[in-house]
Amino acid sequence: MAKPRVLVTRRWPDAVEARLAEEFDAVFSEHDRPLDTGAFREAFRDFDAVLPTVTDRIDAGALDVDAPRCRILANYGVGFSHIDIPAASARGMVVTNTPDVLSECTADLAMTLLLMAARRAGEGERELRAGAWTGWRPTHLVGTRVSGKTLGIVGFGRIGQEMARRAHFGFGMDIVVHNRSRIAPETLARFGARQAESLDDLLPRCDFVSLHCPGGAENRHLIDARRLALMRPGAFLVNTARGEVIAERDLAEALTRKTIAGAALDVFDGEPAIAPELLACEGLVMLPHLGSATAETRNDMGFRVLDNLRAFFEGRPPPDRVT
Ligand code: DGY
Repeated sequence: MAKPRVLVTRRWPDAVEARLAEEFDAVFSEHDRPLDTGAFREAFRDFDAVLPTVTDRIDAGALDVDAPRCRILANYGVGFSHIDIPAASARGMVVTNTPDVLSECTADLAMTLLLMAARRAGEGERELRAGAWTGWRPTHLVGTRVSGKTLGIVGFGRIGQEMARRAHFGFGMDIVVHNRSRIAPETLARFGARQAESLDDLLPRCDFVSLHCPGGAENRHLIDARRLALMRPGAFLVNTARGEVIAERDLAEALTRKTIAGAALDVFDGEPAIAPELLACEGLVMLPHLGSATAETRNDMGFRVLDNLRAFFEGRPPPDRVT
């Protein structure tokens, strides 16, 4: 029987590409750039499976193909707000993602960002590299203590819980959670956490707020000017979720007017372009979407895609089906 024909839209780790090439009739990205609408339509006509990433916008237009050959979109990544799920389902395509394998590394990076913002690490590094460091002094780049402070976690799924583990057990932080659904008391108890009544209720109580909710239309600008105004003047905001969750202009305004103390972002609305207002914010820590970027995790994400593909083409339910 002919092997299923699969299109991999970006370059993946060597070990995963090798395995894909063994098991499937795999075509790998030539240019390692996001595909456009026309390229997706062609791919949906020519391939049995398409393997996109967060950089591939698969909207109703890209999916507007009569009788597509493609039956599965096996996403390399846990977030799938770049895929129009109802439109994919209407074309008979199954969508899968790669949960679990990136939770720890993403939480590590969120903790890194939190610490960098609180301890002014980005400013310090820039100063030193610019040759502007004049030596130790008691008032130099004084930051904020993290240990024992209150952390608000918005979205208490797998990554949010890993963040709680690090903050609570590593830094003795007090954890408050906001989540769409009720979290089981035993889950909260594991991290000494409590669930806030609402996001508006959580924000004024926290010294740090870390976002771990999904992106997409439902959470677009969840953190806007009104909610930023609910945060404490000394508070910090961390985002490793999706850029659109924050109204970036409102954040830049809050940082400029110092109504909050700082922020650290790994994701941006419309990335890789960065809003000029954000670039102008001195103390803002920014990283280029590195949440899952460790060699181990990027391999694991690829092998998880392979598990989903294998199951699908062997007629079993893919383990990480999101539709
Ligand atoms: C994810 O897995 O969602 C990461 O943000 C990369 O796509």
